[in-house]
Amino acid sequence: PRHGVGQLQAWDSTLAFAADPYRFIARACAAQGTRGVRGRLLLQPTVFLTGAAAARVFYESPQLLRHDAAPGALLATLIGRGGVQTLDGAAHRHRKAMFLHLLRGPAVGALLQAAEARWTRCVQMAHHGDTASGQALYPLMQHWLFETAMAWAGVPMPPADERPRCERAMVDLFDSAASSVPGHLRARASRRWLQRWLGRCIEDARDARPVFRADGAALAIALHRDPDGLRLPTEVAAVELLNVLRPIVAVSVFVTWCQHALLLHPHARALLDSDSGVLAFVQEVRRFYPFFPAATARVHGAFDADGLHFRDGERVLLDLYGTSRDPLCWEQPDEFRPARFLQAAPGRYSFVPQGGGDAALHHRCPGEDFAVALMALAVRRLAGTRCNAATDDLSIDMRRLPALPRMELCVRGLGPVP
Ligand code: HEM
Repeated sequence: PRHGVGQLQAWDSTLAFAADPYRFIARACAAQGTRGVRGRLLLQPTVFLTGAAAARVFYESPQLLRHDAAPGALLATLIGRGGVQTLDGAAHRHRKAMFLHLLRGPAVGALLQAAEARWTRCVQMAHHGDTASGQALYPLMQHWLFETAMAWAGVPMPPADERPRCERAMVDLFDSAASSVPGHLRARASRRWLQRWLGRCIEDARDARPVFRADGAALAIALHRDPDGLRLPTEVAAVELLNVLRPIVAVSVFVTWCQHALLLHPHARALLDSDSGVLAFVQEVRRFYPFFPAATARVHGAFDADGLHFRDGERVLLDLYGTSRDPLCWEQPDEFRPARFLQAAPGRYSFVPQGGGDAALHHRCPGEDFAVALMALAVRRLAGTRCNAATDDLSIDMRRLPALPRMELCVRGLGPVP
């Protein structure tokens, strides 16, 4: 077992973190034999934590709050201002209950129905457009999931000439936010554009105009009331609506990793004959592949927990990628082995691709059932396709956020199964 919080030598680690965002924390901690290291990120005092035991401290300590935790650059792009990610305590639990209601239970069936219907449309489109090299999978999945998200939430499609811009803007939020300077600026503009458009729809819906479908998530968010009985400010309601639309489109990243895993581990296809096997495969893709590097909080009042000391005002980053590979919890964590999920249910602090703890109480993602259901649907369909990539050219760009295969994966044979 590793103890305590070590000290990084570098005065600031922003560049080192950016150079290896998924592995920086685990490597720095391993080098010192600790569960955390203290240093600076974006010039601010920061504690970097890794591993399941540290994850428990991160989620269960009442001194670790979210309201001024995320950097402004992320609020302006990926996250948005005033949304559930930035709330604490009772206000957070109340808002979170809305998301859990919208994203679990019967909602999963409704999502799958929308996704199945749109897959058929995407498949036909892909079939017509099949070229020698096939269709680029990542943009194809973005398109499928954009159409699915809008239909499921009951948001009207923008006019045909604005649709591609709208889809592109949604992708920018998660795919360009942490890229080059021009990409980041595009993501900022995309958020402004999307919030303005959705804000107008929300105001119309509140004026009883039938913009959103009556039984959809969009209308529920537009009409949601905080504990004080008031509706959300229009801009915040738009942020929360984007909080369900954007991540559905972002599941395209995980679907890309499913295809990567199918190519590299052909023997794992045998698992896809049963529902439990498909689930095990999807869970191992979520555990193994890089997507969301870290979660962020800020210390309000110095404290000690489980041998870790935190100073007032520090930022805390929890390593999500490395924690899902914690060698104290996982056998051979760096091997892709879906069968590990056939034996045991994952722990709430050791399996954290979408955050840890309890989704109702903590900031753990409320969309895990959605992500798993969409990935399971996609992996069943993709298992019968052919792919351009040779298995010796499947290296991963770990510097990109989110990480992706260096070579674009293209698939052929998405047409109707005979
Ligand atoms: C929160 C990852 C899919 C909605 C989070 C967090 C992570 C995450 C890491 C933050 C955990 C924390 O701060 O402690 C992912 C990944 C996904 C995904 C990798 C795959 C695409 C979804 C889906 C939805 C969704 C499909 C909804 C349709 C949310 C919301 C939050 C959240 C609303 C904020 C929760 C809170 O602050 O309490 N997600 N997520 N996510 N996710 Fe997801």
